[in-house]
Amino acid sequence: MNIESLNWGDLTPEIFLAQYWQKKPLLIKNAFANFQDSITADELAGLAMEAEIESRIVSVNGEGDWQVDHGPFEDFSKYGESDWTLLVQAVNNWSRPTHDLLSPFAFIPNWRIDDVMVSFSTQNGGVGAHLDQYDVFIIQGSGKRRWQIGAPDGSLKTLLPHPDLKQVSNFQPVIDEITEAGDLLYIPPNHPHNGVSIENSVNFSIGFQAPSSQELWSNFADKLIDNNLGEQRFSDPERALSQTSFNITQHDKQQLKAFMLQQLDQEAFYEQFIGQYLTQGHHALEILVPVNDIDENKLLDILSEPDILFMPVSGLKAAIINDNHSTLFINGESFALDKSTLVLAQHLAQQKPLTTSEVKSFTDCLKNTQLLTNVLNKGYWYID
Ligand code: SIN
Ligand code: CO
Repeated sequence: MNIESLNWGDLTPEIFLAQYWQKKPLLIKNAFANFQDSITADELAGLAMEAEIESRIVSVNGEGDWQVDHGPFEDFSKYGESDWTLLVQAVNNWSRPTHDLLSPFAFIPNWRIDDVMVSFSTQNGGVGAHLDQYDVFIIQGSGKRRWQIGAPDGSLKTLLPHPDLKQVSNFQPVIDEITEAGDLLYIPPNHPHNGVSIENSVNFSIGFQAPSSQELWSNFADKLIDNNLGEQRFSDPERALSQTSFNITQHDKQQLKAFMLQQLDQEAFYEQFIGQYLTQGHHALEILVPVNDIDENKLLDILSEPDILFMPVSGLKAAIINDNHSTLFINGESFALDKSTLVLAQHLAQQKPLTTSEVKSFTDCLKNTQLLTNVLNKGYWYID
């Protein structure tokens, strides 16, 4: 199976964006020919035993009582053969084949993606009908599941069958299908959906991130404060005589708003803020800091061995802003670029493994060598 080849059928990514993205749910049958799970159920269970990996088991009994247990788990035997689902967050940070499931979705920028959540469900397992605030693509892996997806509906009631489980009341599905390996679902935000497993099945959910306005404002304010860049005070040397002493006039209000917006208009600062903010991971990563720092000479030594691969840590978020300034952002950190480092930075941002000869082609330039040793020493890339 070549995961890069998503069979869009009559659609194209352009048509998908214009007609479905954030608008309508979609099911593409057999989007991935011969799809194979990127991780086995046993490996997934192993991840759910790790304390730093977020996992939960949602189960329902014959009386319709829902239970949510949070990982790390030691033993799964008490859950039996049916009626439960194990959900593990950010599996792409621990499983490179799972990270590779993102490649068909590169027509949407990496910063917009949050993680790949993987669920293993037994017969009748599911999390119940619910809404998500984010877009999601769900690839059906092994097994079959019945998926129902509805349109946004303000009359749906929010249900809380367990303090950690938000569901919605019954909805009218617009898609009601049994999904099989390689089928792809797209669910826009706030569309009710419910997936009930027909048999043991695995689902891969590519979840997106969409920062809220309050998250952006609050993080922007934190960055201003951290950099002591908001200490300038309002001034009004052109003040005209006030008609009353108690009004905040429209003019004053506008002046204050303009004073605040000046901060957003500092382009270089805004680029740093937005690049760092959007590439911050929300889940633990397996950062691999070398025991001893790698300097330029050590890198050249390493490159004298032929069959080495330079690998990015799985699940990294990376981006480049190439407007007023050129900057590479990895995991919320920034690396200033110039013309000579831009091409290497593009390789790093794409996170494709680099061979020795590819790396060698960059090391004629000291700035490239420094960028490489920098990302290696931070543990974002490692030598395999
Ligand atoms: C699941 O994989 O069981 C849940 C995915 C979802 O509905 O968001
Ligand atoms: Co959902």
